[in-house]
Amino acid sequence: MDFKLKYDFDQDVNELLNRLSKENISFKNKTVLVSGGAGFLGSWVCDVLVKQRANCICLDNFSSGSGSNIAHLMDKDNFRFIYHDISNPIYFGFSSYPENVCVGDIKKIDIVMHMASRASPFEFKDHPISILKSNTLGTMNALGIAKAHNALFFYTSTSEVYGNPPDDAVPTSEDYFGHVNPVGPRSCYDESKRAGEAFVKAYELQHKIRTKIVRIFNTSGPRIRYGPEFGRVVPNFIHQALNDQDITVFGDGMQTRPFIYVIDEVEGILKMVHKDEALKEVINIGNDKEYTILELAKIIKDLTNSSSKIVFKPLPIDDPIRRCPDISKAKRILNWEPTTSLEEGLRKTIAWFSAYEEK
Ligand SMILES: NC(=O)c1ccc[n+]([C@@H]2O[C@H](COP(=O)([O-])OP(=O)(O)OC[C@H]3O[C@@H](n4cnc5c(N)ncnc54)[C@H](O)[C@@H]3O)[C@@H](O)[C@H]2O)c1
Repeated sequence: MDFKLKYDFDQDVNELLNRLSKENISFKNKTVLVSGGAGFLGSWVCDVLVKQRANCICLDNFSSGSGSNIAHLMDKDNFRFIYHDISNPIYFGFSSYPENVCVGDIKKIDIVMHMASRASPFEFKDHPISILKSNTLGTMNALGIAKAHNALFFYTSTSEVYGNPPDDAVPTSEDYFGHVNPVGPRSCYDESKRAGEAFVKAYELQHKIRTKIVRIFNTSGPRIRYGPEFGRVVPNFIHQALNDQDITVFGDGMQTRPFIYVIDEVEGILKMVHKDEALKEVINIGNDKEYTILELAKIIKDLTNSSSKIVFKPLPIDDPIRRCPDISKAKRILNWEPTTSLEEGLRKTIAWFSAYEEK
């Protein structure tokens, strides 16, 4: 395969920084704890925080993240890595219980971003308990840190809280309650994110914690885990296409997803963290353009000049038929909407992945 695109990471980070600085979104001198900071989205957040001269504390247990996502940050004076499973308690500054994990020298945290959770469908089968714990016990522990430090708490929830909405609830707005199977193969993720949201609201009500909840929709781009074993459709298809393997579409391929490129998503997330107008809010951040999975397969096949065949396999149980966010609230409150086209985002993602293929 003659596929010689180059991906320029610095260009994307600088683009993200420019977009944020145009609206004076800066975390300079803030101490921000990012659980799940070694993952796909968390590591982009850490990159921005470090460049903006925040004090970035990345907490991760590498269950689905990777040291390679943050290796370049390890020697920065405003970056700190803590290896820990957030499902177990951890204290910063002070703990009256000597048996607890305590990071004594970090006395004040301004913002807690709880992003730690395995998030790929293949992990729902192999790691359901760890997923449930990260979003319930982990959310509770992270909220406890926010409470102790009087910090802002930001929770990364998901479109999966809506489950499989009927046609008249698509595009889906934040006030749709969801259509979720509590005992199905996806329930460890969908239901634990719903419980995580309930924890956030309970701490807001009872302990007066300042909170925000983002519902993220299908994001991909450089640093998302690569390969068919990780169960996310964009990296799957790209891997299959770059290797001239069959591209496996589930069902008839007419199910839809709203693919968004990573820098658009992280821009929306950080605007939401920063803006006071988003306090107590739940906001969808995703692309409001729906693509069928078959369309995605064809676009990736074209962009990679692949000779792969597109083949069809049975649709997994409870796989949502349509997914598309109503993003009018994000537009109104955050002055945000995605600007990267699907093709442009895929081109960059393919370029990034193709570097793996050359190794
Ligand atoms: N990428 C998406 O399209 C998407 C969509 C909806 C929601 N989200 C949410 O955004 C967040 C980040 O997702 P991502 O795509 O970057 O996934 P990811 O798997 O790349 O990142 C998750 C990170 O959390 C870490 N982690 C998991 N459990 C942990 C625990 N118990 N303790 C400490 N660290 C732990 C992992 O090692 C990893 O680094 C997740 O909460 C996910 O549910 C992502």
